[in-house]
Amino acid sequence: MMFPTRRMRRLRRTGRLRDMVAETRLTVDDLIYPIFIDETLKSKQPISTMPGQFRLAPGDVRAEARELVELGIPAVILFGIPKTKDEVGSSAFDESGVVQTAIREIKDEVGDDLVIITDVCMCEYTSHGHCGVLMENGSVDNDATLELLAKEAVSHASAGVDMVAPSDMMDGRVGAIRQALDNSGFTGVPIMAYAAKYASSFFGPFRDAAYSSPSTGDRRGYQMDMRNSDEALHETYLDIEEGADIVMVKPAMPYLDIIRRVKEEFQMPTAAYQVSGEYSMIKAAAEKEYLNEQSVVLESLTSIKRAGADLILTYFAKDAAKWL
Ligand code: PBG
Ligand code: ZN
Repeated sequence: MMFPTRRMRRLRRTGRLRDMVAETRLTVDDLIYPIFIDETLKSKQPISTMPGQFRLAPGDVRAEARELVELGIPAVILFGIPKTKDEVGSSAFDESGVVQTAIREIKDEVGDDLVIITDVCMCEYTSHGHCGVLMENGSVDNDATLELLAKEAVSHASAGVDMVAPSDMMDGRVGAIRQALDNSGFTGVPIMAYAAKYASSFFGPFRDAAYSSPSTGDRRGYQMDMRNSDEALHETYLDIEEGADIVMVKPAMPYLDIIRRVKEEFQMPTAAYQVSGEYSMIKAAAEKEYLNEQSVVLESLTSIKRAGADLILTYFAKDAAKWL
């Protein structure tokens, strides 16, 4: 059937009609809000490269958790900024570390009304800013790093975390973390693996926020090459085999094709991370009034969902929760 019998515009005539046939539904249930907790702070501090986002002081986390629950946001992902960093990132698995303490306080405050996820990586805790321990030649020692990541994940689980999210991109880390959790009795703690994480310049504002830029070199020896797409499927396959419960693609908007391929290939619960640079880009354009913030944010989140993401990690979660 062709024009003039077929007219695609008929179902676009009113808002109600458009809603009836909408294929993609973005809801607050899809959102995960990232927060930074800085152990050195007494009160929260704005992050200059991410307008509207803050480094929280440890004393702010309870109120923050309450606010998220009130907004209906189901989950938070925690990033810690420790007071001391060393070569091996020891404070990452300190039982009274910044993240471990925050987990206990949030659980005490809101219980199971908020899913607490923790980012498991070394870069916020190492003096050199790499996601693992360094060998003499300056590259990251994969297998030595696995032990540290496993200790970090177990220490988060001991503090009561609901889910861990390794973001380091070492080979074998999902398996190492799964085994360590299971051996410590945490068989019920799921892993959301940063499965296809690209070496991206869109992480720039995050690294300012978390003081986690590598002091020498870059992360291209462990994060993925942006030119590759088949490799993302291979990475994701391996993480699933090693025990990942949720797989993640990161960044989101520049990698919508990857989200689509991962979802189609594995039909796993799939998350996408709308990263700091994606956030700051929209914020900057909105501040200059080049773009309408609300409509662009909702369009970007909807496109990520339409590509195949079930869950979206986004710094816009609070705004979106109010708008939806
Ligand atoms: C830690 C980590 C990073 C992000 C999430 N976990 C930074 C990095 O890999 O350098 C980036 C998140 C963002 O840009 O919003 N490895
Ligand atoms: Zn890292």
